Amino acid sequence: MEPHFTSDWFSPHIPVWKEVFAPMEGKPDLHFLEIGSYEGRSACWLLTNVLTHSSSRLTCIDIFHLSEESIETSTRLNLAMPSGEEIESRFDANIRAVGAENKVTKLKGASRELLRTLPLGSFDCAYVDGSHTSASALIDGILCLDLLKTDGLLVFDDYRWNCFPEAPLKNPGSGIDAFLTFFKDEINIIHNDYQVIVRKTEKR
Ligand SMILES: C[S@@+](CC[C@H](N)C(=O)[O-])C[C@H]1O[C@@H](n2cnc3c(N)ncnc32)[C@H](O)[C@@H]1O
Repeated sequence: MEPHFTSDWFSPHIPVWKEVFAPMEGKPDLHFLEIGSYEGRSACWLLTNVLTHSSSRLTCIDIFHLSEESIETSTRLNLAMPSGEEIESRFDANIRAVGAENKVTKLKGASRELLRTLPLGSFDCAYVDGSHTSASALIDGILCLDLLKTDGLLVFDDYRWNCFPEAPLKNPGSGIDAFLTFFKDEINIIHNDYQVIVRKTEKR
């Protein structure tokens, strides 16, 4: 069975991801973290293009329910609003469809709580694509930075997303800017466009 998705926010990023992740493709013992999995499109891409070694793993965090924020965003953008149950069962089916159920740990809940349960310094990459508020992007980034190994990659989606021009803190950009400012001595920026990708360095 092929994976099935009802939306696509991910495919435009594939050319950059192919380049950035090329040195990691197929390597053993990689552990990636994703905040915001939805139907699993980005997760399935990682599992079939980068985390292909049998020892590599992906931890996926998602609330899998319709938050006030997602209802407001879907209404503003005129998007369909599937239920949390529908989204979660499509995620499960898609992970099975790519044969990766043994590689994926699904954690259901808010990233701000669940990230604190994960081991520090243990991930090779974290993808921040959950709640879009500036506060969430900032706190997800801070918590993920400590979860990364040195040289690990932190990917922020939606840096230029501006769904709420009248309420800038409902968009992630200023949270990501704050992260880049306050942690500039602990990161190297390797890509800065619609997504921002940084590499964790030793503290300077
Ligand atoms: C844009 S979608 C993710 C898209 C996915 N990465 C892809 O490429 O198809 C954002 C996801 O973040 C989840 N989310 C929103 N707020 C969250 C939070 N506080 N903690 C964890 N997940 C959250 C939503 O349930 C939704 O599934």
